[in-house]
Amino acid sequence: MDNAFQWTPAYSVKVDALDAQHKKLFEIIRELYSAMRSGHGNDIVGNVLRRLTDYTVDHFAAEEKLMEKHAYPQLAEHRVAHRDLVNKVLAFKKEFDAGSSAVTPDLMIFLQKWLTNHIQTIDQKYGDFFNSHGVH
Ligand code: FEO
Repeated sequence: MDNAFQWTPAYSVKVDALDAQHKKLFEIIRELYSAMRSGHGNDIVGNVLRRLTDYTVDHFAAEEKLMEKHAYPQLAEHRVAHRDLVNKVLAFKKEFDAGSSAVTPDLMIFLQKWLTNHIQTIDQKYGDFFNSHGVH
């Protein structure tokens, strides 16, 4: 499963700064996976989960800011997709913090799927648009 959390050029959105942020998200998910697999306590897993949540929120905000700046026509629907993902991750984090949920292989599959699906179905739509506005 480790390979599933590797960024590859197939995930490129043609904007270097955003590719770098996506790579970081893959990296944190790998870290979470490894913390889960090595049986670390909830303190360490919880810490990685918090960083993942924070970084996701920051990344979405950075993407939306760039879209606003260049009047990206699909900003509204992209924002809805971001909000939906953040709500799911925050709901999980809340359960985890309350002790009623654990980081499991199912959660890892969910994270891997949302990240790759979101990048490949929604994020990659903006690549050509940003490039045509001089953002690479
Ligand atoms: Fe890269 Fe729309 O998140």
